[in-house]
Amino acid sequence: MNKHLEYAKQFAKEAGVLILKKFRNPLEIEKKGVVDIVTDADKKAEAYIIGSIYHRFPQDSILAEESGEIDKKSSSYRWIIDPIDGTTNFAQGFSMFAVSIGIEYEGELVIGVVYIPHLNELFYAIKGGGAYLNDKKISISSKTDLIDSVWATGFPYNKRETNNNNLLEHNKAILACRDIRRAGSAAIDMVYTACGIWDGYWEKGIKPWDIAAGYVIVKEAGGVIEGIDGSQFNLFSGEIITGNREMVSKMRDIIYPSI
Ligand code: IPD
Ligand code: CA
Repeated sequence: MNKHLEYAKQFAKEAGVLILKKFRNPLEIEKKGVVDIVTDADKKAEAYIIGSIYHRFPQDSILAEESGEIDKKSSSYRWIIDPIDGTTNFAQGFSMFAVSIGIEYEGELVIGVVYIPHLNELFYAIKGGGAYLNDKKISISSKTDLIDSVWATGFPYNKRETNNNNLLEHNKAILACRDIRRAGSAAIDMVYTACGIWDGYWEKGIKPWDIAAGYVIVKEAGGVIEGIDGSQFNLFSGEIITGNREMVSKMRDIIYPSI
């Protein structure tokens, strides 16, 4: 499994080099939905990572944002990839974007790597081994006072089509804590929660590739990560809340006071 971690770190950093070459340079931008976009850099970085996995681990399965599911029935490992999490930021020339690579072994998330190329910040964790930022151990914030805490959140691409768009939750939360950040990358929000830059994070309408790597990193940093309604974490539910145990409980009281 350590071999998988080392290669995941390498592939994320190499993809980061490709992505940075395109940053603030002309891009080909396609619309996937009304406001959901993909650039040629997303596609190039994803193709690079998938090609690298094929080369080193030809038996492994893959789930990737732009390519979908590549299922190898006999494999124990599945790589879950977001080549650029924070594509809108990237396309606007705003530097908060990351390569996110999570790896499952026999259906359980066990490795997470999130690389922020513009800051050269490499977050990683392997189950049971702690969580790290550039080889320095990280841990979740210990704050418990709401008014001293800064939370992160985000809003789904289909916010115009559904009322389940986090606007009401946001309005309640922003009055309860010191402030809220909408950094525009779920993967970064998760690793910034893991290292205590954010004191908590919740979001609705997120995809497995946004959070697979971050899940392992938050857990290994000592954080709690659950469904917003208190259910067990589910990679495919699209809803998460994370922070230390007391903070998660207090956040839930604000966001979902009926529970
Ligand atoms: C998005 C970002 C954003 C979150 C969205 C995601 P993308 O991923 O993580 O912060 O609010 O829900 O879809 O499209 O930049 O890869
Ligand atoms: Ca994403």
